Amino acid sequence: MNCEVHGEGGGTERFWEGHYQKHERRWSGRPNPVLVDVAGSLPAGEALDLGCGEGGDAIWLAGLGWRVTAVDVSVTALDRASTQATKVGVDGLIDFQNHDLAHTFPAGTFDLVSAQYLQSPIEFPRARVLQAAARAVAPGGLLLVVTHASAPSWSWANPNTRFPTPEEALAELELDPKPWLTERLGAPERQATGPNGESGTVTDNVIALRRLTR
Ligand SMILES: C[S@@+](CC[C@H](N)C(=O)[O-])C[C@H]1O[C@@H](n2cnc3c(N)ncnc32)[C@H](O)[C@@H]1O
Repeated sequence: MNCEVHGEGGGTERFWEGHYQKHERRWSGRPNPVLVDVAGSLPAGEALDLGCGEGGDAIWLAGLGWRVTAVDVSVTALDRASTQATKVGVDGLIDFQNHDLAHTFPAGTFDLVSAQYLQSPIEFPRARVLQAAARAVAPGGLLLVVTHASAPSWSWANPNTRFPTPEEALAELELDPKPWLTERLGAPERQATGPNGESGTVTDNVIALRRLTR
């Protein structure tokens, strides 16, 4: 495993470590559907997966030939992702890095920067982190941000939460619109299964922006 450690961690690290250690396996291991839909037809290049969790997306991308930098604050999640990457023979294509993205961010620029449900019930400077994510997109590359826009029964979110519209979610990022072409901005619904086998319809906010210039 190539797992670099950056920053100090702290409350965020404690929270997410506790979260992963409570479960033998937290996520399904399958790639996220919007990523599959958006990235499935892209030519393989360099990808950055922010908040990669147990590595389902990074491993799927590597299986398509992408070189992936996969980042999470939880070492337990990264260990699981790395073990699985080795098992399926793509470990040589994934650089696992341990960052608290509120404090440190991986170096480099990427053809795809993906933030899938990079959300936290504890304090997280999301807009600032996603602005850094946008800066890490190479010219011609894609920024893909997918967030929960509904609260199914298994969610942490209060069922009365008012989620932002996709337009509001984009505005919250406060990006300079000039270098970007909006390829997707919407709130598709999909059928999903919760951690204990619950099923329901969920909505995601999907933002896919193509960087035209630096
Ligand atoms: C809701 S989970 C999504 C995991 C994965 N992207 C997926 O779709 O299955 C959020 C992930 O972000 C990570 N995370 C939360 N705050 C973070 C931070 N400040 N720095 C790095 N990773 C963070 C968590 O450890 C967790 O793995």
